Amino acid sequence: MASSSLHPPLLEWYAVSARSLPWRQANPDPWGVLVSEIMLQQTPVNRVLPAWETWMTRWPSPHDLAAEPTGEAVRMWGRLGYPRRALRLHAAAVACVEKFGGRVPTTYEDLRSLPGVGDYTAAAVLAFAYGRRSVVLDTNVRRALARLLDGKALAGPSVTKAERRRAEEVLPDDEATAALWSVALMELGALVCTATSPSCTACPVATMCTWLASGRPAHDGPIRAAQPFAGTDRQVRGLIMAVVRDAENPVAKASLDAVWPDPMQRERALDSLVVDGLVDPLPDGTYGLPTS
Ligand code: ADE
Repeated sequence: MASSSLHPPLLEWYAVSARSLPWRQANPDPWGVLVSEIMLQQTPVNRVLPAWETWMTRWPSPHDLAAEPTGEAVRMWGRLGYPRRALRLHAAAVACVEKFGGRVPTTYEDLRSLPGVGDYTAAAVLAFAYGRRSVVLDTNVRRALARLLDGKALAGPSVTKAERRRAEEVLPDDEATAALWSVALMELGALVCTATSPSCTACPVATMCTWLASGRPAHDGPIRAAQPFAGTDRQVRGLIMAVVRDAENPVAKASLDAVWPDPMQRERALDSLVVDGLVDPLPDGTYGLPTS
């Protein structure tokens, strides 16, 4: 679509209402954008902010991170959760150094070749680091578009071809404007067009919203169950990781046994961390961060 009446009001709203986030500078550092997107995949902005600052201070380029053992990346990941992302980000840094001259690649295919980079992250780096026109479909964007264009309360469980086509159709033609549109739509979804309490009275495109015009019908598809945490293996893995991460040296098995009462669940969690390469069992029976 060459132009859409949605564009001016949303872009104007973004210019005055966007959060000032450090990875959204005028001339963004592609490495900083990649780090932010990997962190933001499963962690909210307020928790990512301090972690991103520390990470970028310590490893301002892919080269700096690639020179360190993977265990240091896991240690710095701290409490962001889903720590396999730290291993993948380290591996992505190594790939940037070995295959792309120490820089974050600039094409969709090359970005997708990096560990941990799926369709969303590749599209986001193209748009937010390189100012390119790309279809950025995260949960917030998908929900905003489902409401604006389709009159649906929520997007479906996974991206459909039709959904991608519609997102592409509404993307401005010009590269820089398209990139801005993508981040503006994402911000609209995060701040205004939220999942459970959308502020339609504050929405810059409310008059063009199909969902609002049809009386905000309730979601009619399957409800995605909230992911439980308490009592899950993920919680036990987090407790074990905290002990290993916070210790200066590899820890005795007894220190890990102290984190959780159920031995079966504890062993299962520990085994899975070893399989994932997040914890290294050492010949003397202690457990440490990976040193390779
Ligand atoms: N800005 C750019 N990418 C973002 C993301 N994934 N979440 C929130 N704000 C962003």
